[in-house]
Amino acid sequence: MTDPQQAERDYFANEPPPKDLQANITLAREFVARHDAAGRRLVLVTSGGTTVPLEAQTVRYIDNFSAGTRGATSAEFFLRQGYAVIFLHRQFSLLPYSRHYSHNTRSFLDFMREDHARVTVDEQHQPDMLDVLRQYTHVKRDGRLLILSFVTVTEYLWDLREVARLMRPLGPRAMFYLAAAVSDFFVPRDRMVEHKIQSNEDFAQSSTHPDADATVLPPATRTEGRKLVIDLEPVPKFLKQLVDGWAPDGIIVSFKLETDPSILVKKARYALDKYAHHLVIGNLLSTRKWEVVFVSRLEGERWIRVPEHRRTKSFSGVPSLVGSADATANQDQAEPSQS
Ligand code: PMT
Repeated sequence: MTDPQQAERDYFANEPPPKDLQANITLAREFVARHDAAGRRLVLVTSGGTTVPLEAQTVRYIDNFSAGTRGATSAEFFLRQGYAVIFLHRQFSLLPYSRHYSHNTRSFLDFMREDHARVTVDEQHQPDMLDVLRQYTHVKRDGRLLILSFVTVTEYLWDLREVARLMRPLGPRAMFYLAAAVSDFFVPRDRMVEHKIQSNEDFAQSSTHPDADATVLPPATRTEGRKLVIDLEPVPKFLKQLVDGWAPDGIIVSFKLETDPSILVKKARYALDKYAHHLVIGNLLSTRKWEVVFVSRLEGERWIRVPEHRRTKSFSGVPSLVGSADATANQDQAEPSQS
């Protein structure tokens, strides 16, 4: 079995950091120090899916499913509870507050109208928009929300590690709420072709770099006849490193997404045993908007469900479990396992 520390050293030695890493660290350092001095609780919410580029000059990539609804909605709830939030999200996925008016079947312009050559919010949307605006303004005034972004799995992991290390001194006042959908497989930099993959064999690249010698590793993508063959490697499970090394005293909540109901709870329990963190929140792709299962050592298995009659879309068209005021009031204690 690979030593997790060695896997970490190898991964970060091989995969170059994102261009904005230093800028992100500077912003996060100031944010953490300010809220630490104020004695505030701080949560890192990760949100959205990570990509796996297939070429160094990326035209094609593999993506992970996630619109960022869970992360953006949860961030609003943490802010409401007085937390300072670092929101590490996939670029262009949903953001707290603005999510109510974006990624919608309607344009945000549909909420507006012209009134005497001025733009105003339509009467019917005034109360909801005022409520969202007030929350947003309050959070902005307190400087309690820091928004950082990633695109690739490597950018995500660099940011996660550096921000976690900055939050380490806060001990249990630091929480990690890992709702991002993180790729399990990737193309290592030293096996990545430089240019766009060609469908015509005559133009296929035989090595990862134009002037590479014969000792260079074979590319992870190659064409065989008219087929494209992709040979991915596993991304090390950095949850172990987060729990043991980057933030050993922090509260760590991970998510587990499955499509097969019969394995969801088993996999959540497995993750809890393996990484020894605080809580795994399990959800199924098809029902994730209405139900989740909390799996922890203290409380075992607990389902939280939005009651049937509340499963309608919100005014902004974005339904979500944590967005429902009813959800926490309708917890099914110790629901039998689906497994
Ligand atoms: O954004 P939405 O559309 O609302 O969807 C929300 C969601 C379904 C994406 C979210 O609720 C969710 O389930 N997110 C986690 C999905 C996922 O990546 O599961 P996983 O089995 O790949 O990873 C489980 C945990 O291990 C994650 O918390 C991740 O941070 C961690 N991990 C994963 C891969 C990896 N190489 N290292 C890790 O540490």
